[in-house]
Amino acid sequence: MEVEAEQTRNLIHHSHKYAPSASFVEQANLKSFEEYKRLYDESINSPETFWGRVASELHWFNPWSQVLDSSDKPFFKWFVGAQTNLAYNCLDRHLELHGDKIALIYEGEPGDRLTYTYRQLHEETCKFANTLLHLGVRKGDRVAIYLPLVAESVISILAVARIGAIHNVIFGGFAVDSIKGRILDSTAKLIITSDGGYRRGRVIPLKDLVDEGVDGCPSVEKILVIRRHPDRQLPCKMQEGRDVWYHEVSQGKSLSHEAQHMDAEDMLFLLYTSGTTGSPKGIVHTTGGYMVGAYLTCKIVFDLKPHDIYWCTADVGWITGHTYVVYGPLLNATTVVIFEGAPDWPDKARFWDIIERYSVSVFYTAPTAIRTFMKWGDEFPNSKNLSSLRLLGSVGEPINPEAWLWYRTVIGHDNCPIVDTWWQTETGSILITPIPGVTLTKPGSATLPFFGIEPAVLTETGEVTDYGSLAIKKPWPSMLRGIYGNQERYKQGYWGMWEGKYYYTSDGALTDEDGYFWIIGRLDDIVNVAGHRVSTAELEGVVLEHHSVAESAFIGIHHDIKGQGLIAFIILRQGNVGSPKLKQEINEIIGKKLGKFELPEKIVFVNDLPKTRSGKIMRRLLRDVAEGRPLGNTTTLADPSVIDHIVEEFKLS
Ligand code: WTA
Repeated sequence: MEVEAEQTRNLIHHSHKYAPSASFVEQANLKSFEEYKRLYDESINSPETFWGRVASELHWFNPWSQVLDSSDKPFFKWFVGAQTNLAYNCLDRHLELHGDKIALIYEGEPGDRLTYTYRQLHEETCKFANTLLHLGVRKGDRVAIYLPLVAESVISILAVARIGAIHNVIFGGFAVDSIKGRILDSTAKLIITSDGGYRRGRVIPLKDLVDEGVDGCPSVEKILVIRRHPDRQLPCKMQEGRDVWYHEVSQGKSLSHEAQHMDAEDMLFLLYTSGTTGSPKGIVHTTGGYMVGAYLTCKIVFDLKPHDIYWCTADVGWITGHTYVVYGPLLNATTVVIFEGAPDWPDKARFWDIIERYSVSVFYTAPTAIRTFMKWGDEFPNSKNLSSLRLLGSVGEPINPEAWLWYRTVIGHDNCPIVDTWWQTETGSILITPIPGVTLTKPGSATLPFFGIEPAVLTETGEVTDYGSLAIKKPWPSMLRGIYGNQERYKQGYWGMWEGKYYYTSDGALTDEDGYFWIIGRLDDIVNVAGHRVSTAELEGVVLEHHSVAESAFIGIHHDIKGQGLIAFIILRQGNVGSPKLKQEINEIIGKKLGKFELPEKIVFVNDLPKTRSGKIMRRLLRDVAEGRPLGNTTTLADPSVIDHIVEEFKLS
C-alpha cells in the first residue's frame, strides 16, 4: 500500500481542478456548492428529517414509525414498521405518468434488439411473478439467478422482489464451484437460468454449468430455463421433473399481480462477495433503506432527467448491476440500456455504436474498460457520434489520471462532468462521489461524501490522519444488514475495528487539503482484477485441488489495463516438476471451478514461500519481487535465503 500511497501523494500535489460547464450547471438537479453543503449538513445533523423526506418521494403501503433505530448497534434498522415493494416502486408507481415511456432497451451480442415500455415491463414482470408462484416460490425463499445480460435478468430480479422472495444473482462469468458454493450457502429453492448466452460470438452453455453446479445441492427443487432466442433452442439437457422451460410454464399466466407488501427490513437480496477467508460471504440487503439509497444516489449522482437514456455497462451479477442497472434507474423512471456482449464484438466500436444508436446521455463504466478503450485507440470512439453524452461515471477501482483525462476528452469531448464513484457491495449505493453540477473534480479522486455519509481516514487506533484506513462513521439507509448466516462475522468484520464506532471499509485512502478522498485500494487480501473482487484465499484453496500442488500464495500486482493482475507462487509436492503443462492444468482448474476472470497472469513454481517465524506469508515481499522493486525489510523472515530463490524463479517464469 505504501507504493500506492506515495504515488497518490504525488497526484494530489500535481492535481488540477475541473469545473462543470456553465451549460451543465444550468440544467443540473443540484447547482451550487452551497446547496450541496446545506443538504449535506442537514443529512448529517438531522438524518431522520433528511431521509424521511427523501423516502416520502417513493411509495409505501404503510408509513414508518421511526426512520432510524440504532438501539441494537450495529444492527441498524431503517424505516421501522413501514411496508413497501421495490418492484412496485420501479414499475407500478410509474404506470400513470410514464406507462408508454421506454423503460428498457436491450441489445444482444448477435444484434437482436428489444424495447419495453414501463407498461410492458410491468406486464412481463407480473407474468414472471405469477410463474414463480405457480412453481411454488414464496415470500422469503431464496432464488438464484444465473443469466446472460438479457431483458429477462431485469425481469426476473423484479419478479422475485415482487413476490417477496430473495434473489441471489450469480454473475454469468462464474463457474461451477462458485455457483455451487452460493447455492449451498443460500439454500436456494429455485434457479433461473437460460440455455445459453453469447460472449465474443461463442455460446456460453449456462444451463450445463448450472447442472454441474447444483449437483449435491439438496435445496434446489426446480430449474427454470429461459430460451435465449424466442424462436429456437440452444443445446442443453433438461431433467424431467426438475427442469422447466419458462416459455412453456409461463403460458397463460396473468399479466397482472399484486405486489407483496414487504416490511422495510425484510430481506431483498443476497449477493456473495469475496472476503479475506476462503468462501465468499452472502451480503444481506433489505428492502426499504436500500430502495431509498438506490433512488437518491441515482437521481443526484447521475443528475437524472426524464429524457435521459442511461447506460451502466455492469453485469447484473455485480452490485453495480443491482443498484445502477436495475433498481436505481427504474426507481427514477429512466430509460435503461443493457447490452449482453463484449465491447470488441464484432468490432472495437461496439460500445460507441450503442451510444450513437440509442443517443445515450449518461454512461457509467469501469476504469479497466476505459484503459482498454484507450489502448485500442481513439479512432473507434471517433468513428461514432457521441454528442448525446452529457455525463460520465466511473466505478470499481481507482481511476488513474491518464484514463480520467482520456475519458473526459475523447469520450466526453471536454463537455461532460466525470463522477468517480466509490462504494462497495456492502454499502449498497454510492458513498463518496462528486455531485456533477457542483463538485470541482480532480482526476483520480472520488472527492466528497454523498448525503448522510461521514467518512474518515483513521489510524489503527482510531485517530484521524491523512493516510490510513477509510472508515464511515454513521449508518446509512442502504448499508448491508449482515452476512447471511453469520451475524457475528458481520459485527466483528465491519464494526469491530474501532469498537463499533465506525464501519470498516477495508480500503486505504488519503485526504488532501480540500478534504477530498483519494481511495488507493484494498488493505486486505482481496485483489481488484479489472474491477472484480477476487479473494486470494479462495484461489489458494482451489489450486490445492490439483494433486501436485502443496501450497500457494496469490498476490495482486499493478496491471496497466486491469488495475491489478494476479501472480501465483506455487510449491509443488515432492516428486513433481514445474512444467508448462502443469501451469495449464492449474489454470484449467481455476477457470472451471471459479471463473476465467480469476486466472493469474503468471504462475511461478517455487521451493518455499517467504514466511515470518509465526508462519505468516509475507505477501509484501512477493509483491516487491513481482513488481521489480528493491526488497523491503526481510529481517522478520524465518529463512531469508528463500527470497533469493524466488527472485530467480520469477525471472525465469
Ligand atoms: C473498489 C463495487 C477506488 C474498492 C461498487 C472497494 C473503488 C471495492 C471505487 C468494492 C472507486 C470501488 N475508486 N476504488 N471509485 N469503487 N472501488 O464490492 O476497493 O465489487 O472496496 O463494489 O472496489 O468492490 P465491489
